[in-house]
Amino acid sequence: MTTTEGGTVQHRDAPWWTDATVYQIYPRSFADGNGDGVGDLAGIRQRLGHLADLGVDVIWLSPIYRSPQADNGYDISDYDDIDPLFGTLDEFDALMGEVHALGMKLVMDLVVNHTSDEHAWFEQARSSRDDPKRDWYIWRDPLPVGPDGRGEGTDAAGTPGAGTFPTAWRSAFSGPAWTLDEATGQYYLHMFASKQPDLNWENPALRQAVYDMMNRWLDRGVDGFRMDVINHIAKDPASLEPGARGFVMGGRIHDHLREMHRYVFASRTDRELITVGEMPGVTVDDAALFTAQDRHELDMVFQFEHVGLDHGPSSKFDNRPFDLVALKRSLGRWQDGLADAGWNSLYLGNHDQPRSLSRFGDDGAHRYESATMLAAVLHLHRGTPYVYQGDEIGMTNAGFTSIEQYRDIESINWYAEEVEAGADPEVLLESLRFRSRDNARTPVQWSGGDAAGFSTGTPWIEVVANHHAVNVEADRASSDRSVFDWYRRLIALRHESPVVAHGRFEMLAPDDDRLYAFTRTLGDEQLLVLANWSGEPYELDPALHPVLRRRSVPEVVLGNVPHGIGSLTLAPWEVRVLRA
Ligand code: GLC
Repeated sequence: MTTTEGGTVQHRDAPWWTDATVYQIYPRSFADGNGDGVGDLAGIRQRLGHLADLGVDVIWLSPIYRSPQADNGYDISDYDDIDPLFGTLDEFDALMGEVHALGMKLVMDLVVNHTSDEHAWFEQARSSRDDPKRDWYIWRDPLPVGPDGRGEGTDAAGTPGAGTFPTAWRSAFSGPAWTLDEATGQYYLHMFASKQPDLNWENPALRQAVYDMMNRWLDRGVDGFRMDVINHIAKDPASLEPGARGFVMGGRIHDHLREMHRYVFASRTDRELITVGEMPGVTVDDAALFTAQDRHELDMVFQFEHVGLDHGPSSKFDNRPFDLVALKRSLGRWQDGLADAGWNSLYLGNHDQPRSLSRFGDDGAHRYESATMLAAVLHLHRGTPYVYQGDEIGMTNAGFTSIEQYRDIESINWYAEEVEAGADPEVLLESLRFRSRDNARTPVQWSGGDAAGFSTGTPWIEVVANHHAVNVEADRASSDRSVFDWYRRLIALRHESPVVAHGRFEMLAPDDDRLYAFTRTLGDEQLLVLANWSGEPYELDPALHPVLRRRSVPEVVLGNVPHGIGSLTLAPWEVRVLRA
């Protein structure tokens, strides 16, 4: 068990994943081994050397299960098979063996808030109201229609008192969260696309079926799960009452996760496994409960607070300017809130977010400096860092200018709904250019050649135009400006220096709107991180930290602008990590 002393987890007792780095592969965009334009397991196997060189400990694969691909695999029709688009179970076993032989672990995506509507469970459930699987999903009768012909529920546009929809929920991918199953005359709930019906976690047989499936994957050799929108599995009963406007997490989430732990993980103490739960809307206090080790729920969660700061109140497509002080306040609160109990996961991007470099940095003139600065700030927080594919070479947003270039169901549905409502298409395209999930889903740029070396065929989504300059080959060949090499050094530093994994975190100058500065302290060792989060030079105030007042030049652990060292001026986007 982990003990705390002076607010610092004692690293000798800490779980293995506290000094690990996870790399996320979005399989359809990583590498295409068979030339059909879609990434696959064969492609991943060809590129494992890249990940071993980077030094990451864990690979998380976004879903590769059998799926109609309505949401790129987050709509699963068979949890026990690999989609032919990606390969076969034999190829999966071979991949897992190779990952393990290279000293890395393999984590699967677990999508159990919903299945595909083409999953055999749902096909059975919708076959009759009396089918035993009916209750594995969430069904409601249409609300009554009054003598005036108006329903007591909402209509498809969300207008209350105008239709028969059971609640006013909107799907995350536009439109109502309910779809009428004509044959059986009831609505089913889908928080995402209508092809992603939500499972009913109140049903014990469904829960057991999920645990059995997880056990089969662990028996096969996988090393854990990233759990998709896992806090959504427990719906507060009030969110299903007529008039409810959306999802509220139910208290039973803790029961479900503890039960899952008992049935799936508790007996596997001889294995080094990892669990991370994706939890939109989770608060620091909730996260402390979910990740306190003695509660046996999850190892860590993905929280969303910091990636929502530049969203306006109406939707994620309502772009607001980035505010560094707000970001520091948020991440600082998560560092403090999970200092004694629980554990943070650290991320700035993934397959659902725009490219972190384009969002928070300068993806033009200062691409190298801002990519490395962002990486250093993130990886030197306390928690387990997640590298999203392509970030390790400073990939940028897609730069798409026409709706035909987009593939993501969320972007396409939102655009169609807004155009229908009369919005200006140019304004919508501008929002998508910043916010669409496709920004992070373009093919990994392996070379400057055709299709960026991703595929010998035509990629399912266009490669970014800058692939001639921004690619793995060019980046790794650079002797002094390789983003890959910088990530490699950060990951190695975490392995070598317990202060990185375990040191106490303290934010400095929290109200400064250009400087991101903090210390990490373990025993008598301290690191000072100084990052200029702006495109202008920054004058450091010596009052910030004693090391800046010393006559001697401090030891520079890492720096992305060599000429700046020793001076009190940080160059644009410079980061310095000093031993204090
Ligand atoms: C999660 C996934 C996202 C998916 C959604 C529905 O947020 O990360 O890609 O669309 O869940 O499964």
